Amino acid sequence: MTAQDTAPQTPAASPLILGTMGWGDVERARGALRAGLEAGIGLLDTADIYGAGASEETVGALLAELDPAERTRLRVQTKSGIVLHEPGPDGTPAVRYDNSPAYLHDRLALSLERLGLDRVDTLVVHRPDVLTPVSDTVRAFLDAREAGRVDALGVSNMGTRRVLEYQHALREVSADGTGLACVQVELGLHHRMLVESVVLANHPAAAPDGGAGDLGEVCAGEGIEIQAWGPLGQGRFTRGSDGTVPADPAEQAALAAAGGAPAVVARVARELEVSREAVVLAWLLRLPWGVRPVVGTQDPARIASCAQAADAAARMDGAQWHRLWTAARGETLP
Ligand SMILES: NC(=O)c1ccc[n+]([C@@H]2O[C@H](COP(=O)([O-])OP(=O)(O)OC[C@H]3O[C@@H](n4cnc5c(N)ncnc54)[C@H](OP(=O)(O)O)[C@@H]3O)[C@@H](O)[C@H]2O)c1
Repeated sequence: MTAQDTAPQTPAASPLILGTMGWGDVERARGALRAGLEAGIGLLDTADIYGAGASEETVGALLAELDPAERTRLRVQTKSGIVLHEPGPDGTPAVRYDNSPAYLHDRLALSLERLGLDRVDTLVVHRPDVLTPVSDTVRAFLDAREAGRVDALGVSNMGTRRVLEYQHALREVSADGTGLACVQVELGLHHRMLVESVVLANHPAAAPDGGAGDLGEVCAGEGIEIQAWGPLGQGRFTRGSDGTVPADPAEQAALAAAGGAPAVVARVARELEVSREAVVLAWLLRLPWGVRPVVGTQDPARIASCAQAADAAARMDGAQWHRLWTAARGETLP
């Protein structure tokens, strides 16, 4: 036996991103992180508002436990720009958006403190604040980058026009021509706007696209990574054991809402000999835009199931992809 045979194997890099919105219980999150590392996941996604800071604190605590080799494999992105639970004049908690330099500056300082880091890889503007000019937010990012507190800028939940505004503003002022690193939007078999706006263009059945119609194609052209949040549809296509009805009434309702799609997901999973989660994620990976799913499960077994997605995508043919899409739509294609 050679030393190479006994050396720990580094898993192949995964296109998946590990979402940490539900992290707060360190024990449970540790299980998720271990499973993520074993699956080759190299990017953690958090936000200042997740669990009112508990997600970032948990990520920080777990990063501190990693050995240097594992730590170097992991990048971290956080988000800011949503003000949650701010009491209004009558004390009722309200939501608003703030992408101003002063707000982002303060929140980034807080995020870094909770994460126990000097710098995050990417700062993502969580939702658009129309009152703050894009150029001001870009300037705030450049200042933070110059101070060594962040490397890259991303945006989330924004339409194509605003994404391009960011891209152009950033390119114009950054000395090295750097553009946006990523755009994070809800995308999956349950939320198909980006796909349907392209394929059903000029058709009466075209869905409203929320201003993000051509986002996939535009981002691919601009070299901006698309990150899909909610990619498992919170489990609505994979709940219950294959073909059986789950005992929990809430899970039964979620399955019913997904129509016949769970059965088609199960069928394609059998055809490809992969997990059902892998099939749901492979539907995204098959898109020609380089989509990276941000998976939010904390269940180690489910994370391992998700890890089969790249293999499933490599073998999923166009007919299988269209069967999944049609089943999720609940009606045949025009
Ligand atoms: N940019 C944004 O505005 C935005 C918004 C929302 C989320 N995000 C990011 O995206 C990540 C993922 O979002 P998400 O959590 O909504 O998406 P998701 O990955 O589609 O769903 C994960 C959730 O579904 C549950 N689930 C999955 N499969 C299941 C099954 N078969 N049976 C029962 N439960 C199942 C998981 O529970 P278990 O843990 O028990 O598996 C978990 O609570 C978040 O962590 C966050 O990082 C971003």
